[in-house]
Amino acid sequence: MVPDGGMGPEPVTIGWQLGADENMAEIIASGEVVTDAAFAHSAHVDLRDLEPARTYWYRFFVGAYETEIARTRTTPAPGDMAERLVLGHVSCQRISQGYWTAFDDMAEHDLDAVLHCGDYIYERNSADVRELDLPEPVDLAGYRLVYGGYKREAPLQAAHRVAPWVVTWDDHEVENNYQGDVPKKGSQTPDRDSFLARRAAAYQAWWEHMPVRLPAPTGPDWPIHRGIDFGRLVSLSVLDTRQYRSDQVCAPADIGPRCEGAFDPDFTVLGAEQEGWLRGRLAGSDSRFTVLQQQVVMQQWRFLPGDQAWNLDQWDGYPAARRRLLDDLRATESANPVVLTGDVHSSWVGSLALDFDDPDAEVVGTEFVGTSVSSNGDLLEPVIPAVLAQSPHLRWAQATNRGWTRHVVTPDEWRAEFREVEDATVEGSPVGVGTTWLVPDGGAVTSA
Ligand SMILES: [Fe+2]
Repeated sequence: MVPDGGMGPEPVTIGWQLGADENMAEIIASGEVVTDAAFAHSAHVDLRDLEPARTYWYRFFVGAYETEIARTRTTPAPGDMAERLVLGHVSCQRISQGYWTAFDDMAEHDLDAVLHCGDYIYERNSADVRELDLPEPVDLAGYRLVYGGYKREAPLQAAHRVAPWVVTWDDHEVENNYQGDVPKKGSQTPDRDSFLARRAAAYQAWWEHMPVRLPAPTGPDWPIHRGIDFGRLVSLSVLDTRQYRSDQVCAPADIGPRCEGAFDPDFTVLGAEQEGWLRGRLAGSDSRFTVLQQQVVMQQWRFLPGDQAWNLDQWDGYPAARRRLLDDLRATESANPVVLTGDVHSSWVGSLALDFDDPDAEVVGTEFVGTSVSSNGDLLEPVIPAVLAQSPHLRWAQATNRGWTRHVVTPDEWRAEFREVEDATVEGSPVGVGTTWLVPDGGAVTSA
């Protein structure tokens, strides 16, 4: 890997074309963008006024080079009840822990959008299965190198070429399990000032490398939560559960007891501004499915009886904040809430209930936790039976297989197909459907 991609300091003009067909025989629009070294010569071409619910193709030119033709698709028109949407749901692609066969499989599908729940890069890439020999990044140059190391991989490029992507970040885009402005223990940027400088660099590198309409960040504070409506079928809210969260007060470790502070009304995952924004969005929506694309597991994982062992990095560590969100979903009469989650390198299906320990408690929505593309999840496998046995609203889990989740949405039902790679530590391993789940309009999740 070469710093700055070998581009040098000079501005570079990038040409682009939008086509009506897969061979680009008819060019609908074209233009040029002058890029410069300040943003790693990245280009964000933001086209408006396209036809709704339509497939387009595009490519870029630089000097004598041109990219392969890629496909994208616009959302259905506001107010239209789309007949069918197919969404890819994906997270956690630590390059050193496996092959990206999940992306090869995804690239063979016709998708309306790919929803990425974060951990697009990892700051550490030890050589478990294959090596990305780069130091842990702490500055802009370092993060850019890691993105370069990830984005040069053909399966990831192929998956980007088949559909528009909706991305949010999790922790590893900056540093493992950071909490707002607080770095993890043992961080290379241990004080608040050096950590915030690092966060600003990480956020900028993310912007440079991600297909987002957001304006470029200007420092460590950068709101990326946003809403995308697929007509009236799906109202998607893209959340950020890392930047604004309260530092965990109950225990120094990720697993531990919950203390009084976790129930404090100011103890937050989303932060007050994002919570208020989401509440307004939920109140103003009449979509058939209310979808939250976010990072950390929202369902309760009960490891032990009592209040002694929770994963404090998940919503379990923020019970009052979780209850506020569930209450908002109820109070706004949001239709068929579906939460899409990443982070834990394992698949989980369950209902979001007002009391997670009471099998008869009111159910507010459904959560699908998608497994990782390549990050290892085996650590969780031994605890799954105990968690399932003590969590009446959890229906199913697996932690041994990598993959992605294909969601097929119609006005009548949400169908979640968990696609699993047999063994992501070997190249070209077969991919099949592990299990399929249904959420009928107005109903709770069931096995298909
Ligand atoms: Fe992850």
